[in-house]
This record gives sequence, C-alpha cells and structure tokens, in this order.
Amino acid sequence: MKAGDVLKSVCNKLGMEKLPDGGFAVGSPEDEVKGVLVTWLATPEALRYAASHGLNLVVCHEEFYWSEREDPPEYRSPGPYRKPPDWENHPNHEIKKIVNAGNLTVLRIHYGLDRLFIYDAFAEAMGLGQVVAGEVYEKVYELPRKMKLGELIEQIKDKTGLNSIRYVGDENQIIEKVGNCWGGVGLSCNRYYTRRAIQDGAQAIICGEIDEFAMFFARDCGAALIETSHVLSENFGLELYARSLRTEFAPVRIEFFAVKLPYKTHVTTNFSGYGVGPTVTVAPWG
Ligand SMILES: [Fe+2]
Repeated sequence: MKAGDVLKSVCNKLGMEKLPDGGFAVGSPEDEVKGVLVTWLATPEALRYAASHGLNLVVCHEEFYWSEREDPPEYRSPGPYRKPPDWENHPNHEIKKIVNAGNLTVLRIHYGLDRLFIYDAFAEAMGLGQVVAGEVYEKVYELPRKMKLGELIEQIKDKTGLNSIRYVGDENQIIEKVGNCWGGVGLSCNRYYTRRAIQDGAQAIICGEIDEFAMFFARDCGAALIETSHVLSENFGLELYARSLRTEFAPVRIEFFAVKLPYKTHVTTNFSGYGVGPTVTVAPWG
C-alpha cells in the first residue's frame, strides 16, 4: 500500500481528480505505508505515538505547520520581518524533528474528510434530526422534538461530555430548527454558513468553536448559538474515517488518535456580573 492510495480513495469517493486543499506536508504519494494514524491535528504527542507504534503515515485534518499572516510593517516593530523559523523554540522545529526521526509521511486531508465524514457525523452525534432545508454545508435540521434552548444546551453538553458550554440566546426560547456549523465554521471569518442557516430557518446553530463577532452577529439576527469545540466536533467524523480505512486497507494497522481539548474551564459559582458593562454609556455632559 502506498501513501497516495489513501488520498486517491478520498478523491474517488468524491468523484474528484484533486482536492481543493491539503496534500502531502511531508513525504510523497510513493511512500510505502506500514501503518496509519488518523488525527485531527498532528500534535507532537500524536506524531510521537505514530513513530513509536510503527504507524509511518500520519493523516491529519488541520494544517500541519503553524503558519502566520505577514502583517503590514505599520503593525510591527521596525527592521526585518521576524519569520517563525527564526525563533529556535518555535514548535514547528520540534514537529520537524519528530517527523524526521520517525521517518514519517504526513498527509493532510481537509475538505474531503469534512465532506465525507465530519459534517454528517457531528450532526448525528448531536442528535440534530432530519434535514429540512439546504444542502452541502448549509443544511438546516428539524430536531426530533421542539425544546427550550436550555434543554438543547443540556443535550449538547451530554453528547459532547463538556461540563460547561458558551451560548448566545434566551434559555426559554423554543427551538425547532438548527444549523450545523461544526469545527471552525461558526467563526466570524466563515459567517456565510451561519447566515445561510439562519436565513433558511435555523433558530439555533450548533457550533464547533466561535468568537465574539460571531456571537454579536447571531444575537443581532435573533438566533441562538451553542458552542462545543473545534476538535471535539470533528473527532466524531475522524474516528469514523479511521474505521472506514481499516475496512478498506485491511490488514494494514490503522489507528485513531483522539486529540483532547487544549483548555480547562474555571467556574466561579458566585458570579457577580464581573466584566458585564452597561449597554449604553451616557457621558456626564450628555
Ligand atoms: Fe476544522
């Protein structure tokens, strides 16, 4: 089995010659595969696990190296642009070291895995119900029964295993239709998908990760948002993908590496409204 067979199989399932993003970050399609590790992100832990378990092909969903936007000179200190590799402690160096020492091939499959596994697996895992509008990544689902937003939040907490959830909206609002903005699709840089789902009747959007601009936008649309997590919302589909690879490429050893949440939550029970400012500030002379 060659590394290229894994990519080819995704292209074939989609009837595409080539995927719009991703590809070989390290190694080539000709590399011989002894074992495969499927992971959301090729973290140092995932890469070390692959190297020590003879899984020489790592299939990751997100970008392999940490990249940065190069801001206009006005935004940074003068002098030559300090690029990531100039910093000797940049995590990319460690990643490269593990990959070289383990002789690993790294293949990123982004669009293809979202389309074939991740999007639908998240909807199913969250119990979103039947599709009643939209297609591709713009589906609106009708919940198996109407419920208050507060109850839906409890359902999502239960299904994700999260002990706290950020949300926008009124817990007493009745929700019948929902959108699916898994992964980073609920972020304001991907506003199109949130807007489309609301436009097509979604009263709440079940998201992966979101930012404050996305929250303000939803609020102004009169829609609710429920945030889960980028990685957790995509792990459901990636695990499914690893299982399908096992069937397709048996007897090659194929494993799924579950990347965990990168943060913890500190909850203060006696919440005093810290950080919540007045909606309108009236100047003393106004
Ligand atoms: Fe993602």
